[in-house]
Amino acid sequence: MSLTGLFLVVFLCVHLFVNLLTLVDADGSTFNTVAHFMGTNIIMSVMQWVLGAGFILHMLWATVLTLKNRAARPVKYEVSTNSDTSWSSQNMFISGATVLAFLVLHLVNYFYKIKFTELIESGQMSEFELVTSIFQPQYWYFSVIYIISFILLGLHLNHSFQSSFQTLGLNNTSWLPRLKFIGTLYAIVIAVGFSIIPIFFLMKALL
Ligand code: HEM
Repeated sequence: MSLTGLFLVVFLCVHLFVNLLTLVDADGSTFNTVAHFMGTNIIMSVMQWVLGAGFILHMLWATVLTLKNRAARPVKYEVSTNSDTSWSSQNMFISGATVLAFLVLHLVNYFYKIKFTELIESGQMSEFELVTSIFQPQYWYFSVIYIISFILLGLHLNHSFQSSFQTLGLNNTSWLPRLKFIGTLYAIVIAVGFSIIPIFFLMKALL
C-alpha cells in the first residue's frame, strides 16, 4: 500500500505541474508542447503502464485490507475517536472510492478521447482545447464534480502521506510531527493546485 501510494504521490506532483502549464499562455502552446512530448515519449509510454498497475495494486490492497480489518472487528468500537484519529484517517476507503469514481469520469473526459479517438490526431482539437472545453460555464457540473473530488483527494492524501512512512517504519517522535506537517502541506498544494485550473477557465469565460 505504502509503496504504490508513494508512487502515486510522485505522479500527482508531475501531473499537477504539467496541467498548471495550461495557465501559462492564452493559446496553450506551452502545455500543448509538453503534453505532446509526454504523449510520444517512450519512457512516458512505459510509465503509463506502471502507473495503471500502481493504481490497480493500490486499490486491490485497499479493498483486501478494509475487508480484513472489518472481519477482525465485526463489532465497531464504542468510542471511535480519540485525539489521534481524524475524519480522513477513518474514512480512507470512502475518500479513496470517491477518487476512483472521479478517475473513471476523468479518464473518459481526457485519456479515452486522446488515446482512442481521432480528436487530437486529426487536428480537430489541441490537447489544450480539450482540457479547457469541459471547464466552461455550460458544463459547470464538471467543474463542481472536479473541485469536490480534489478536496476529497486532499483529505485522502492528508492521512495517507504520513501513514505510509509510518508503515515503512520511517518515523520516530521527532520526525512524525514533521511528516504530518509535510503531508498536510502536500495535500493542500494538490487540492488547491488542481482546483485553480477549473476555477481559472470558468472565470475567464464569465468575466
Ligand atoms: C484540473 C485537473 C486535471 C486536469 C486538467 C487533468 C488533465 C489530464 C489529461 C489531459 C490527461 C490525458 C493525458 C494523456 O493521456 O495525454 C489526464 C490523464 C490522467 N489523469 Fe488527469 N488531470 C487533472 C487531475 C487529475 C487528478 C487529481 C488525478 C488523480 C486523482 C488525475 C489522474 C489522471 C490519470 C491516472 C491519467 C491517465 C494517465 C496519463 O495519461 O497520464 N488527474 N489528465
